[in-house]
Amino acid sequence: MAYSEKVMEHFANPRNVGEMEDPSGVGEVGNSKCGDIMRMYIKVEGDVITDVKFMTFGCGAAIATSSMATELVKGKTIKEALTLTNKAVMEALDGLPAVKVHCSVLAEQAIKAAVSDYYTRQGIDPVSIVGVLEECEDCHDVEEE
Ligand code: FES
Repeated sequence: MAYSEKVMEHFANPRNVGEMEDPSGVGEVGNSKCGDIMRMYIKVEGDVITDVKFMTFGCGAAIATSSMATELVKGKTIKEALTLTNKAVMEALDGLPAVKVHCSVLAEQAIKAAVSDYYTRQGIDPVSIVGVLEECEDCHDVEEE
């Protein structure tokens, strides 16, 4: 399966790239198999994510999924952002090749990691809200590449 036009478009023109000064939360996740790293910054006002930025050192699909994930959570409440799944990110991008599914999992986890950091900074234990971020189950796909 080739990349969809949307994936190519987000890869070529990623939205919300960069660092954020004074973020409310920062999350960094990595995939130990492919070595790609994704960092997400969120700004929270009230319970709304008013701004999102990302830095991704990784493959094209990782960049496209980070870009789409930022678009999907910007302006949403934290609660809504936590319901974002890698499947929703993939659907919004009109799909990903099977060997690239783990890249979208990284995007979902990066958002959750940023929200976890936000709660930690508030003195709230994030585990009961966000859960434990585990290495994605799809990561073995990388070895089959
Ligand atoms: Fe590892 Fe895309 S995030 S190959």
